[in-house]
Amino acid sequence: MLRKLLRRRLFSYPTKCCFVVLIFSLVTFSVLIIHQKPEFVNVRHLELVEENPSSNINCTKVLQGDVGEIQKVKLEMLTVKFGKRPRWTPYDYVNMTRDCGAFIKRRKYIVEPLSKEEEEFPIAYSIVVHHKIEMLDRLLRAIYMPQNFYCIHVDKKSEDSFLAAVMGIASCFSNVFVASQLESVIYASWSRVQADLNCMKDLYGMSTAWKYLINLCGMDFPIKTNLEIVRKLKSFVGENNLETEKMPSNKEERWKKRFVIVNGKLINTGTIKKHPPLETPLFSGSAYFVVSREYVGYVLENEKIQKFMEWAQDTYSPDEYLWATIQRIPEVPGSLSLSHKYDLSDMQAVARFVKWQYFEGDVSKGAPYPPCNGVHVRSVCVFGAGDLNWMLRHHHLFANKFDVDVDLFAIQCLDEHLRHKALETLKH
Ligand SMILES: *[C@@H]1O[C@H](CO)[C@@H](O)[C@H](O)[C@H]1NC(C)=O
Ligand SMILES: *[C@@H]1O[C@H](CO)[C@@H](O)[C@H](O)[C@H]1NC(C)=O
Repeated sequence: MLRKLLRRRLFSYPTKCCFVVLIFSLVTFSVLIIHQKPEFVNVRHLELVEENPSSNINCTKVLQGDVGEIQKVKLEMLTVKFGKRPRWTPYDYVNMTRDCGAFIKRRKYIVEPLSKEEEEFPIAYSIVVHHKIEMLDRLLRAIYMPQNFYCIHVDKKSEDSFLAAVMGIASCFSNVFVASQLESVIYASWSRVQADLNCMKDLYGMSTAWKYLINLCGMDFPIKTNLEIVRKLKSFVGENNLETEKMPSNKEERWKKRFVIVNGKLINTGTIKKHPPLETPLFSGSAYFVVSREYVGYVLENEKIQKFMEWAQDTYSPDEYLWATIQRIPEVPGSLSLSHKYDLSDMQAVARFVKWQYFEGDVSKGAPYPPCNGVHVRSVCVFGAGDLNWMLRHHHLFANKFDVDVDLFAIQCLDEHLRHKALETLKH
């Protein structure tokens, strides 16, 4: 980095004037060193520990699963809920991002690759959001690296101020942008898939450098550092990784019947649909994937996939079978065998850790995960601080759902932990 700057400084001048320019360059260079060194070498500036000095929560204890500390978080959240916490509104973000240098510094975004290994393995992200700008800022900061690419799809129904705030944040980074085509995202409808497809198209056209694509929503948060994600992705050697299992019979109604949008809601018309235009049977999965660049190119260009997608547009929650099914089509790059012996559950796949209410229970008696420490929304756990300890001992790259309004400390402690871990590797 510095050497590159030096070369640019020294050789961009006409060769005939030399001495004065050389001295000037050296002075400029020394100034650059003095200015850059503390930012990138002094790791303390990037640690997140002092962000909330008013709270007396000890995140080390929270991450250890300390019952007393987790109880303390619950009490603290009650205080937070009664309005003690200053919040940043979309207008604050619009204002803050007018001065990008100050914004990046204040919010402690990492603006240099932390290792050569990470620099050489860029990741693309598609992030679908509709509100809660502070959550987006926290998520983006947690996964932001200058070598990666970030496409943010903002729901067409979002407030203008929210879109303006997202655009403000995006304007501060050359590798963060708002999707070129925005959809009005309706729950369980095709629009959810289309939002990701719009970002996929933009990301695919923008750079050939990235190796894998990960899709996220505004309630996701990483549970691994960028380096850990890179190493996991490398270990896949070109294969995709996502939930893909046998289609349960109770979900067949979702694609055997035709669904249409009426007054902003998806309804079952009862009309029987034609068979999907595929030899491959449909598989069941989730909206979240970890896929290779080759896979993205194939999905965007292959005729058979296009036909399948066209067929899927009037079904219920196509996101929960489309990616899972494409992953089992033999010609698809990085796909998985059609045989049910290769089925991958949400717990075996790395894409997303989610706690479904009806599976929670006593792990020693065979439940896949312990009960939710936060609250449930549509049968999915919105994590509390007490969920972190168990979660962090598992292989998933991201977990869903987090919400600052449910448990600010779950996010804060996770955020601090990952940042600390990422910076720790710099010291070796
Ligand atoms: C937080 O808890 C850890 C583990 O119990 C302890 O070592 C550390 O000193 C505590 N930090 C503070 C600031 O109290
Ligand atoms: C905008 O930000 C500046 C500092 O960057 C602050 O002094 C000012 O009060 C802010 N204005 C509004 C309207 O929030």
